[in-house]
Amino acid sequence: MLYLIGLGLSEKEISLKAFELLTKIDNIYLDTYTNYFDFDLLWLENSLNKKVSPLSREDIEKNPLFLETAKKEDVALLVSGDPLVATTHTDILLRANKKGIQTKVLHSSSIYSAIAETGLHIYRFGKTASIPYPEENFFPRSFYDVTIENKERNLHTMLLLDVKKEKNLFMNPKEAIDILKRLDENNNIKDIVVISRISHENQRIIYGDMEELAKFEKEFYGPPPHTLVIPAELHFAEEEYLLTLAEIYKNSKNK
Ligand SMILES: C[S@@+](CC[C@H](N)C(=O)[O-])C[C@H]1O[C@@H](n2cnc3c(N)ncnc32)[C@H](O)[C@@H]1O
Repeated sequence: MLYLIGLGLSEKEISLKAFELLTKIDNIYLDTYTNYFDFDLLWLENSLNKKVSPLSREDIEKNPLFLETAKKEDVALLVSGDPLVATTHTDILLRANKKGIQTKVLHSSSIYSAIAETGLHIYRFGKTASIPYPEENFFPRSFYDVTIENKERNLHTMLLLDVKKEKNLFMNPKEAIDILKRLDENNNIKDIVVISRISHENQRIIYGDMEELAKFEKEFYGPPPHTLVIPAELHFAEEEYLLTLAEIYKNSKNK
């Protein structure tokens, strides 16, 4: 049996159900590449008195030995956030299924629900997109087109930032805003909400004009993970919440 288990957004957000299950499983692996992984799993290893083995993208996608083990024994693959949100893990379930391995998913907290801490109404979000690192001869823009399509439908856009674990690269808001500015020739984007390390002790929610936020260096935003939201026209309740609870960087504080 293969169990895909969500760790949630920070330490100790794993469900009690999943924790109890892990006490009975000896093959425990960790996906290290779909998110910036900064929380300590020692507490989990110590509480279970078991080892959690890290797996790289290659171990999971190209050479999934853990699936061979799952043919004979129970295997748990731990994933940050919810295991099926914004990751490629439905593919693992399909591959396991084709090998005749039974699977079960244990869900957990995710950036998709935690984003509601911005006060933006969750049902007003349109399609999510990711901002990838530009490459030598390729400057991706599909996330920008998604943002504009959502804006035209008066929907918010959640923009996830690129994670290139193999190269130890985790996009910061400064890089993301610079990329957005390059594409936004017609000044369609006015406001941005930056959500950093949500569910961690040092979480931050920043709301401001893109021009104002672009002035800050990456150090201002602190360590990853970060997500950007390009809001649609704000409902008065959303605006009141943001203006009351976020850090604000706007030209006119009355806006
Ligand atoms: C590939 S997605 C994985 C999402 C994860 N499975 C989940 O359910 O939350 C990784 C991206 O989600 C966003 N993210 C994840 N955790 C976050 C957090 N605690 N605060 C802000 N953004 C986060 C970042 O943009 C990060 O690059």
